[in-house]
Amino acid sequence: MDANAPKRKEARKSLRIKVISMGNAEVGKSCIIKRYCEKRFVPKYLATIGIDYGVTKVQVRDREIKVNIFDMAGHPFFYEVRNEFYKDTQGVILVYDVGQKESFDALDAWLAEMKQELGPHGNMDNIVFVVCANKIDCTKHRSVDESEGRLWAESRGFLYFETSAQTGEGINEMFQTFYSAIIDLCDNGGKRPPSSMGVGFTKEQADAIRRIRNSKDSWDMLGVKPGATRDEVNKAYRKLAVLLHPDKCVAPGSEDAFKAVVNARTALLKNIK
Ligand code: GTP
Ligand code: MG
Repeated sequence: MDANAPKRKEARKSLRIKVISMGNAEVGKSCIIKRYCEKRFVPKYLATIGIDYGVTKVQVRDREIKVNIFDMAGHPFFYEVRNEFYKDTQGVILVYDVGQKESFDALDAWLAEMKQELGPHGNMDNIVFVVCANKIDCTKHRSVDESEGRLWAESRGFLYFETSAQTGEGINEMFQTFYSAIIDLCDNGGKRPPSSMGVGFTKEQADAIRRIRNSKDSWDMLGVKPGATRDEVNKAYRKLAVLLHPDKCVAPGSEDAFKAVVNARTALLKNIK
């Protein structure tokens, strides 16, 4: 019999992990955690002061894990308090409000803050990130659509969930998948398993979709100068069509981008002799 077997079994049983929440003030970080841990929602905004800390035991697959959650304050005022809490983290819940474009645009700055605090030897590749597009119950005010959020997340190898702390939609599923990915990471010696790295689309495809989404007119969309010839328009169109054709591209938003490119070409060719 393997003398180490009982020990290993014991190690599989108890796992301690550290998770932090990140994102602008008022996006719903504390409410997401409260919804999962306490099964309730508080409509009144109570800003987190610096950091809220809690420990919770959760059952994921056949494992019980002890989760230390550090819920960060999003307000810039608390930078000095939260900057000490970035290290030794296995999982990050990165939250934005789907009705607040600035909170989505701020996600890069949150990653930059974490990277800076971890220093030159810190490695963000071996941390599980889950992006929560929160407040999806507020459908009237939505300003960041699913494909835009999903593209941002998945092109970085992050998980993506649409959530509402108010109704509870997406919350349990998000935490279960998030914790499951952290267990896989821990079982793989603290490194992200290779199976979770592939995103199924290229950076070129993701960049093209983003560029098309932000283009100001049809010329800009095809990446040609105003006044370009039929040949130039067709050449630019073919390149994008090959890159984004729905049969070949699985990146979020590729179908809409492909349609937009087809429409842009038709509109331009109508006016070029
Ligand atoms: P800081 O602690 O200041 O960084 O904010 P936070 O991100 O923790 O936000 P918090 O969870 O305190 O929520 C901010 C406000 O948004 C509160 O008034 C919540 O009730 C509300 N809120 C949070 N999640 C949702 C949601 O999914 N839907 C709706 N409609 N409101 C939400
Ligand atoms: Mg909070």
